[in-house]
Amino acid sequence: MHTIEEYRTLFISYLKEKVRTKEPKNLYAPITYIMELGGKRLRPVLTLMTTEIFGTNYKKALDAAAAVEIFHNFSLVHDDIMDAAPLRRGKKTVHKKWDVNTGILSGDAMLITAYQFFETYEDAIFKDLAKIFSTTALQVCEGQQYDIDFESRDLVTIPEYLKMIEYKTAVLVAGAMKMGAIIAKAPKESQNVIYEFGKNLGIAFQLQDDYLDAFGDPKTFGKQVGGDIIENKKTFLFIKAMEMATTEQCQELGHLFSIQPNDSEPKVTTVKQIFKESGAAELARKEIENYTNKAFSILDSISIDLDKKQILLDFGKGLMNRSV
Ligand code: IPE
Ligand code: IPE
Ligand code: MG
Ligand code: MG
Ligand code: MG
Repeated sequence: MHTIEEYRTLFISYLKEKVRTKEPKNLYAPITYIMELGGKRLRPVLTLMTTEIFGTNYKKALDAAAAVEIFHNFSLVHDDIMDAAPLRRGKKTVHKKWDVNTGILSGDAMLITAYQFFETYEDAIFKDLAKIFSTTALQVCEGQQYDIDFESRDLVTIPEYLKMIEYKTAVLVAGAMKMGAIIAKAPKESQNVIYEFGKNLGIAFQLQDDYLDAFGDPKTFGKQVGGDIIENKKTFLFIKAMEMATTEQCQELGHLFSIQPNDSEPKVTTVKQIFKESGAAELARKEIENYTNKAFSILDSISIDLDKKQILLDFGKGLMNRSV
């Protein structure tokens, strides 16, 4: 086994070899741009780590890890169009640097490229990888659709929200890990346990993403702080604030989440205040911890060495304390 940081470095150098700009430039330059902007590389690291946890050399998982990371970046390019987001990883989003049409087509090319990375695997593994990948990718689309649908709905329940984030985010984290287990030819039972671990970690991860979107530090966050508030996203923070705030605050929140003012600053400030005062912000922190612990407890039902379990625990704890 390597350290998390080593897996990241190994993956990045592999990716650099594989993703190059070719002709036509206007199709491929945005792809290299977004891929080289960095990011945390969480999902490919999880794929590599899982393969080694189940006893196979990480090198066998590099192509699947690349597929997962390219798919993730594709989903971000399209997500930023859908969310009208100006910033990604501290730089202009693809559709801002180029235009929306470029974002759509380069994104499409990334999705196809992701699939091509599976072609190096032997038939039985290829089939299993393609299967989990297709299921996951379709669920991501479903989650993204719910996310957009909820923007224009007044009320969304916590179970609806949880299902939405499970689909748009958690299943890819889970799928990335399952792919690692498939490559290591781990027993089906273990594949499913590691999937459940990834899913709960992924839910905690999106809850945290929503928290940071409101309360992150603009200097380090890399995205537009308050973007979800501007777009009227029905996050955990919003739903809980509507449950817990005073009648007056609820009315104000409801009103603010039905408009898109030219100057969004007062809206963002007021909403954040209500998120804090109502106790929703604190509750979100607790929920992040709950889902992380749920993921950890799932690990108990799997027979892998303690030092390997420890790496997954460290990974999960690292996520909880992140600021990016
Ligand atoms: C952003 O994912 C999209 C979400 C699912 C929240 P990451 O926070 O993993 O993005 P990068 O790749 O590190 O930039
Ligand atoms: C992203 O959710 C989920 C996918 C890209 C599929 P968000 O819209 O919250 O992600 P960020 O905050 O833009 O990274
Ligand atoms: Mg977004
Ligand atoms: Mg989005
Ligand atoms: Mg977000």
